[in-house]
Amino acid sequence: MNNVLVASNRGPVSFTVSDDGELSLRRGGGGLVSGLSGVAKDDGVLWVCAALSDGDRSAVRLAPGGRIDQAGYDTGPLRMLDIPPATFHRAYNAVANSTLWFVNHLLYDIPNAPLFGTKFGREWESYRDYNGAFALALAEEAGHEARVMVQDYHLTLTPAMLRAERPDLRIAHFSHTPWAPPEYFSLLPDDVAREVLEGILGADHAGFLTDRWAQAFMDCCEALLGAEADRVGRSVTHDGRTTRIGVHSLGVDGAALWERACEPDVESHMTALKEQVGDRRLIVRIDRTELSKNIVRGLVAYGEFLGAHPEWHGRVVHLAFAYPSRHDLPEYREYTASVQRCAQQIEDEYATEDWDPLILNVNDDYPRSLAAYRMADVLLVNPIRDGMNLVAKEGPVLSPRCALVLSREAGAAAELGSHALLVNPYDISGTATALHDALVMPEDERRTRRDKLHAAATALPPQKWLEAQLDALA
Ligand code: G6P
Repeated sequence: MNNVLVASNRGPVSFTVSDDGELSLRRGGGGLVSGLSGVAKDDGVLWVCAALSDGDRSAVRLAPGGRIDQAGYDTGPLRMLDIPPATFHRAYNAVANSTLWFVNHLLYDIPNAPLFGTKFGREWESYRDYNGAFALALAEEAGHEARVMVQDYHLTLTPAMLRAERPDLRIAHFSHTPWAPPEYFSLLPDDVAREVLEGILGADHAGFLTDRWAQAFMDCCEALLGAEADRVGRSVTHDGRTTRIGVHSLGVDGAALWERACEPDVESHMTALKEQVGDRRLIVRIDRTELSKNIVRGLVAYGEFLGAHPEWHGRVVHLAFAYPSRHDLPEYREYTASVQRCAQQIEDEYATEDWDPLILNVNDDYPRSLAAYRMADVLLVNPIRDGMNLVAKEGPVLSPRCALVLSREAGAAAELGSHALLVNPYDISGTATALHDALVMPEDERRTRRDKLHAAATALPPQKWLEAQLDALA
């Protein structure tokens, strides 16, 4: 039996099966996994996650009781749940990623979407089943009065379901995303909106990355449930139960990241990149190819910057790494295509025989990303809306002189804003100007700002985040 458990859709590793049936393992992507992987493993926390792919399902079937660590993999305690593929697909793709993610990031093209009909009713049923499968597994694995930390929008119903099974447990829910304001959150059908809020309120403690998202959640509880929110003491009381609301920012473990970034695979990517770009200045961005990351507007802004500043032609290169994400969703495939189209337009307009103004890469390559961070003069992070954004924190740790152009809608802006160049992510011209300002920033100013960014980015490493969550449940 386990005393501390973490539950999330994506786990720390995922498996792929090669043509000859061989399983190979790779590190999972995204902020949640980057943040929690090290600490959960080091502290012997049992991590419960879903099998996401055929490779994962094969691995689960070979592992006793779904315990990947007991099948000889060095993952730390890990149980993967083999949820029926159709149920998983509806819960993950249709509800979590196409609905709850869209709501909390304000992504809908409102005149056309969302449409909540009978199809959505079936999808919602699957989301319930999927959340129920997590609640059941956690109820089985948790020791008496264990502390359980349920993560993110995939698992909003699990806290209330788990409490019903196991009232002895101390349960936390943590949202790694923003939270929508009530007028946008109430696009959801009323009963669904209520179930989501009440699901999270099934926890003893509901955590958010910034005060802004915590306040928005409390606004929704007041407006949609008629719950009572205590803004000063940070809690929500509904149906006779009180859930504490916590704000726990997540930063990076600077020493561990630096150590990883000095390994030979990163160094050899640096050598290759240097050969490619010479001594030109580098504007770097690194994202999942994700609608909320605003990659297209970032590229358009770079195009405007080149248009307005011919003196930089031949002297600057934009490295845009956009690794694949959620390709089961048509919106994401189309988005990747528009990123590529937009990059092509910049190439067509500005490239010369000896100058490539833009290097776009849409394959996942972690060591190459680390190499790009180390070489960056400017880091562009311009999401439409983002829970935190760890890229904005990783960059200043790895680059000794990068200036950060940061969207004011990223959670990270609360901590990094005063040392970054803040932009409105919809304002292309403003972003183009900020890119220029970042490039011409005097050396001493960029180093002073970078040092402050570094300090802020590493102030709350994942270890502290985990401790704060556990203390909140003590
Ligand atoms: C965000 C979410 C995480 C998610 C990650 C990657 O950071 O908050 O929960 O794991 O994106 O998305 P994916 O759908 O690939 O797991």
